[in-house]
Amino acid sequence: MKQDDKLAASAESVAKAWGGYSVLVVDDEPGMVNFIRRALEVRCGSVQTAGSVEEAEPLVAQQRFDLIVLDISLPGQSGVSWLKVLRERGVNSEVILMTAFADVETAIDALRAGASDFLLKPFSLAQLINSAKRAFERARLEAENWVLRREVASHASRSNVSADGLIGHSAAIMELRALVQRFAPMPSTVLIQGESGTGKEVVARALHQLSPRANASFVPVNCAAIAQELIESELFGHIKGAYTGAASSRDGLFYYARGGTLFLDEIAELPLPIQAKLLRVLEERRIRPLGSEQEIKVDVRVIAASNKPLAQEVEAGRFRADLYYRLQVLELALPPLRERTEDLPELAAHFMALLSPALGVEPVEVEPAVVAAMAAYDWPGNVRELKNLIERSLILGYVPRDLPCTRAVALPVAANLASSTEASDESLNEVETRHIRSVLAACGGNKSEAARRLGISRKTLERKCLAWGE
Ligand SMILES: Nc1ncnc2c1ncn2[C@@H]1O[C@H](COP(=O)(O)OP(=O)(O)OP(=O)(O)O)[C@@H](O)[C@H]1O
Ligand SMILES: [Mg+2]
Repeated sequence: MKQDDKLAASAESVAKAWGGYSVLVVDDEPGMVNFIRRALEVRCGSVQTAGSVEEAEPLVAQQRFDLIVLDISLPGQSGVSWLKVLRERGVNSEVILMTAFADVETAIDALRAGASDFLLKPFSLAQLINSAKRAFERARLEAENWVLRREVASHASRSNVSADGLIGHSAAIMELRALVQRFAPMPSTVLIQGESGTGKEVVARALHQLSPRANASFVPVNCAAIAQELIESELFGHIKGAYTGAASSRDGLFYYARGGTLFLDEIAELPLPIQAKLLRVLEERRIRPLGSEQEIKVDVRVIAASNKPLAQEVEAGRFRADLYYRLQVLELALPPLRERTEDLPELAAHFMALLSPALGVEPVEVEPAVVAAMAAYDWPGNVRELKNLIERSLILGYVPRDLPCTRAVALPVAANLASSTEASDESLNEVETRHIRSVLAACGGNKSEAARRLGISRKTLERKCLAWGE
């Protein structure tokens, strides 16, 4: 009894550190099978058992196991020879082989066959648990590496990972923030729409971070960046030989996102046949790897984004209406930057603070005249365009005056150089004054806060106020 308690306690403590892994134990000794099952069951959740290769075959055909604990001497086919067959088929589960009669040759043979570890019988509970722990760790790292490699490869220029959280206090952003908080804890699908650079990915990451899934993976997929013929296999996985060139089986992104969030970016680019498959997956929460007969249950929250209005895509017959309705259970529309220009100073200051240490340069001052010019500009590239402007300004050490968004600022300079044209000078000053006053008002007259939002020093702001006699 005491031994049992100890076993359960130790299994439980390991369990806390492990995710929901699936295990298959194959051994013809019921005592051994029970011992392993009890040791691993608590957290692994699903531990299945078989007494022979014959019994194990249908189980492996039915589902993918993260770990197979396999005895070498079994009635009928031996563990080593079955493992070779499994590897041939492209089954990539972690495998721990067990034997009572180990010699060097058996061990080498086992490793060659594709085992990742080896346990000599009789082994202790601690040995078993350590070995399983290492196997899960390898599986996790392998999955993580793959996801990271994809992310790095497909998005080499993803400087946006460093920016987290939504910046801005305009009414539109406040409303968006409230919706994000309300939607985040729900398991429902979210559709994020908005022009390019409005922060769709920022919002998707925020939804994940604020959800109960925050500790599991956030897996972004840019549907426009994957070759059309590979999309199905990337999303749902494939088994060996599913198509020419599929040399081994591979899990899909849905599988890697288990327990977490899959972010389907630029969803409008999904080919129609894949749209049909995605709809089925969303409805049944099961995926079927390419070429496989078996379906795998997956628990994944899907967030989709599009910069093309999906309703229009549906009308044009390029997007399935049923999938559209399935995706927009919860919908978020991101406002373009030109509709929330009051956020410009805060955004500019944010990017300044974010980028200047990374670039190793001092922040530059954004004169109110520049801010006014920015407010009048229509920002087709939205926040991304602003971020790029700030990055360029930091590198130059000043805000360039000849860009579409800052061009108006060039006017007074040119005017000063030539004969002074008071009218244009004045109107610009008026724009500047109005803008500063509105920011001041938004900050309840708090000059430090207003200066921060305007991206100027408090001194400069005070000078301006004095000039108006305030
Ligand atoms: N509200 C915001 N607060 C902070 N940073 C933001 C905000 N909105 C956007 N950004 C930044 O702007 C850049 C573009 O954002 P993001 O990549 O999320 O846009 P997107 O809508 O996904 O664009 P696209 O449609 O081109 O993929 C990123 O660097 C992001 O960090
Ligand atoms: Mg994006």
